[in-house]
Amino acid sequence: MKSRLKIIIIGAGNRGTAYARLLHAHPSKPEIVAIADPRETHRRELGRLCQVPEERQFRDWREIAALPGRIADAAVIATPDKLHTLPAIKFAERGYHLLLEKPMAPTLEECEEIVSTAKRNNVTLCVCHVLRYSPFYRRMRSLIESGAVGEVVTIQHLESVVYWHQAHSYVRGNWRNEAESSFMLLAKSCHDVDILSYLIGRRCLQVSSFGSLRHFRSQCRPVGGTERCLDCPRETQCPYSAVKIYWRDRAAKGKFGWPVDIITTDLTENGVFEALRYGPYGRCVYACDNDVVDHQVVSFNFEGGVTADFTMTAFTSIEDTRRTTVCGTHGQIIGDGRIIKLYRYLDDSCEVIDIDQEASGTIDDGHGGGDGGVVNAFVDALTSGNSISIVSGADATIESHRIVFAAEKSRREKRTVNLEEMSAGVRRIPEVVFS
Ligand SMILES: NC(=O)c1ccc[n+]([C@@H]2O[C@H](COP(=O)([O-])OP(=O)(O)OC[C@H]3O[C@@H](n4cnc5c(N)ncnc54)[C@H](O)[C@@H]3O)[C@@H](O)[C@H]2O)c1
Repeated sequence: MKSRLKIIIIGAGNRGTAYARLLHAHPSKPEIVAIADPRETHRRELGRLCQVPEERQFRDWREIAALPGRIADAAVIATPDKLHTLPAIKFAERGYHLLLEKPMAPTLEECEEIVSTAKRNNVTLCVCHVLRYSPFYRRMRSLIESGAVGEVVTIQHLESVVYWHQAHSYVRGNWRNEAESSFMLLAKSCHDVDILSYLIGRRCLQVSSFGSLRHFRSQCRPVGGTERCLDCPRETQCPYSAVKIYWRDRAAKGKFGWPVDIITTDLTENGVFEALRYGPYGRCVYACDNDVVDHQVVSFNFEGGVTADFTMTAFTSIEDTRRTTVCGTHGQIIGDGRIIKLYRYLDDSCEVIDIDQEASGTIDDGHGGGDGGVVNAFVDALTSGNSISIVSGADATIESHRIVFAAEKSRREKRTVNLEEMSAGVRRIPEVVFS
């Protein structure tokens, strides 16, 4: 492919905009030729950013899919979790290569159908498991591959969601309710299960999992607490207060970026207080319609007797991050997303690797460089016609998604689940009706 890549953006929200910005800034200057989003303000803003003419700005992805012929080489699918499957399938059937947000889809059947459609139509599928592209996890994997710690025997991995992020996204926000989005392990931690699978590089055989919604429930509401933080006499005593999270800690200090820009498009004091008064993000965390877990653990048994354990918890401070400890027969790697400490048992040495310093400050802040990494890999694959740069393609992703579904099955059914049980078989996805 020699001419400028042409790309369409489906979903002009947070992620669609992030990818569009990165594509726009890419040296090969891919052209964003159309966008779709029912939200007018977001659609127009992205249209302005990417210079997409008004007649190429659509309210729904179906309008682009219904156009005669293929208008671009690739589609970025950045719609909400429940709305990935149909656009992914329809655009793949029309020959568009796909940069698809994670999770692929809310059921294993739909994930498998996306994969088989992409393969059948010979299109490149790259899933935004961005951690695989971050310099930090790339370095960790290359250390493992180089044999720096001998053979890997166990990995411990922690995802610290951070208390206010849990409240924002998984109690008040878009991923709070499984019926509306997906379960927590899929919505948030498919990244973590995927990175374990990537680091270990072996097939997972069995999983077992525990977890629940422990805290963000009506039973935990303080006596005297009200439905909205603005009215609550206990508000100043509550770490989850929406007034604290959006106003005192951020907007009052002039910080109107994420997550304040999610609760309102009116980025003024008045806009924030309107959102707190009337919008979903002003609700008490003990009076929401959330049902996803706030903590979960998973134990994994991989081929060759390699084991791993993973903890996701809401109850962490901003100081905490993803933490990964790889224990090998000859050494240990301990990493926190920025610094890797490599211990060698032979001489009891410790090498400290600062990933930011190694990259001389070139890492963008989207998932530690993972956002930029996945976009570069996707563009490289399409321009070169060689998918080697894509490390989150169809096979790797369906494998790690299958582990996620197995772990959730284990949590619900209170038993160890063998991965062999998880071949879903392909179910037909309902046809799209073009209106
Ligand atoms: N890779 C990552 O690290 C990462 C991080 C956050 C979110 N995500 C995933 O990215 C996806 C999008 O998340 P987000 O935070 O951008 O959400 P968002 O709500 O900000 O954006 C989704 C957009 O899709 C639009 N949309 C809905 N129906 C549509 C339709 N029929 N046609 C076109 N557009 C439509 C919505 O109006 C919205 O603007 C989700 O699946 C989410 O889980 C991935």
